[in-house]
Amino acid sequence: MKRNIVAGNWKMNKSLAEGVQLAKDVNAAVESAGVLKCDVIVAPPFLHLTEVSKAVGKKVAVSAQNCAAEASGAYTGEVSAAMLKSANIPYTIIGHSERRTYYGETDAILAKKTGQALANGLKVIFCIGEELSQRDNGKYFDVVKGQIENGLFQLSADEFKSIVVAYEPVWAIGTGRTATSEQAQEVHAFIRKTIADKYGKEVADDTSILYGGSCNENNANELFAQPDIDGGLIGGASLVADKFIKIVTAF
Ligand code: 13P
Repeated sequence: MKRNIVAGNWKMNKSLAEGVQLAKDVNAAVESAGVLKCDVIVAPPFLHLTEVSKAVGKKVAVSAQNCAAEASGAYTGEVSAAMLKSANIPYTIIGHSERRTYYGETDAILAKKTGQALANGLKVIFCIGEELSQRDNGKYFDVVKGQIENGLFQLSADEFKSIVVAYEPVWAIGTGRTATSEQAQEVHAFIRKTIADKYGKEVADDTSILYGGSCNENNANELFAQPDIDGGLIGGASLVADKFIKIVTAF
């Protein structure tokens, strides 16, 4: 069964003390919310991962925002998947549009990163999504299909079970311009079909596909009501515990 997931991507925000406090606040809100209909994940910066892990209980999982494409060695500034595993971090985000755009991460690099993560037993939240010009010229299906094929389709069907896909249209990230629930559902259904064509319906139906891009406490409900939207990858609204918990309880 695919799982509903709400994940908070903190990006490069919060001091260590602020991050630990946010994690404690999210954890307390999750604990008092009773039975949830989704898994909850927070993705703080690397430096905060171990302290945030200590600050949350079993109902909140912790994710990195990135990992290295190489296993180990002379790669100054990098953090390997094996290091994340050794710190008991169960997830990493890979392929966020900010990594693709600002750090030149190509599909080939992201495929290597995904391989490293899976080889170390991590689950991967793999981000895809078109830019505004690609939406406007109608090429968005080709773009997301290419990102999936080139970043993920080297995996076996068994390996693919460790993948969560996050559809994040770049034009909706941090802009306040959310995709409508119809726009998001259309692409999510296409992503699921693309996965089904490669790995079969069962694998596709079991894959959690999250929406990201100005998802907040006001629009989460409508987005999550769509049949192929299995949760959200939340940026700005995940930095305030009260807002984040409202998104978590939108299911
Ligand atoms: P915003 O929710 O701030 O638009 O960010 C979305 C995102 O990039 C999550 O990874």
